Amino acid sequence: MKLFIDTANVEDIRKAHELGVIAGVTTNPSLIAKEGRDFFETVKEIISIVGSLPISAEVISLQADEMVEQGKKLAALGDSVVVKVPLTADGLKATKRLTELGIKTNVTLIFSSTQALLAARAGATYVSPFIGRLDDINMIGMQLIEEISQIFRMHDIQSEIISASVRHSVHVIEAAKLGADIATVPYKVIESMMKHPLTDAGIERFLADWKGANQSIF
Ligand code: E4P
Repeated sequence: MKLFIDTANVEDIRKAHELGVIAGVTTNPSLIAKEGRDFFETVKEIISIVGSLPISAEVISLQADEMVEQGKKLAALGDSVVVKVPLTADGLKATKRLTELGIKTNVTLIFSSTQALLAARAGATYVSPFIGRLDDINMIGMQLIEEISQIFRMHDIQSEIISASVRHSVHVIEAAKLGADIATVPYKVIESMMKHPLTDAGIERFLADWKGANQSIF
């Protein structure tokens, strides 16, 4: 399973990219608004950081023709831009048309496997089921990953499953075990995936022992 970073914060994207662990970036209108910067400038800067890795940027219109126009403008920023479209009837129409134009799409705000199947059939490059937001309303988000994964494998559907709305590292591991292709995660989740108290204690012990051994090879 690949990891994408879910943020519009360029410093977090830079840090994650330097770690060498991310294979893409996802943003959404809330994440862009949080940064208080121009949308297009932000996407351009993200491209300058991650190069050819896929970067999802979302359209704002709810009308298919306008979604396609907005999608074309976003896609013109670079080949790595993936147009994010919400799962609505107009979103599906826009997905089909963008796909025909050779533009990659990420169908977002997916909360059921029927929605995921429709998105895939409209040609979505990626489908984004939102795990955390299902958990928030006392549903089991991971069951959705399991179901979509099973359906896509059984029917040889090529759209990649992005486990989105990931809140913690347990979500990441569960999504990986259940067959998600990608988990998109905030930087703080990447940090928590790195940490283990036994790693810290081990380093402390190694350094203390080394000091006592009077070695000088470095
Ligand atoms: C995914 O593409 C979305 O940007 C994101 O994962 C939403 O997460 P949230 O539910 O934490 O806002």
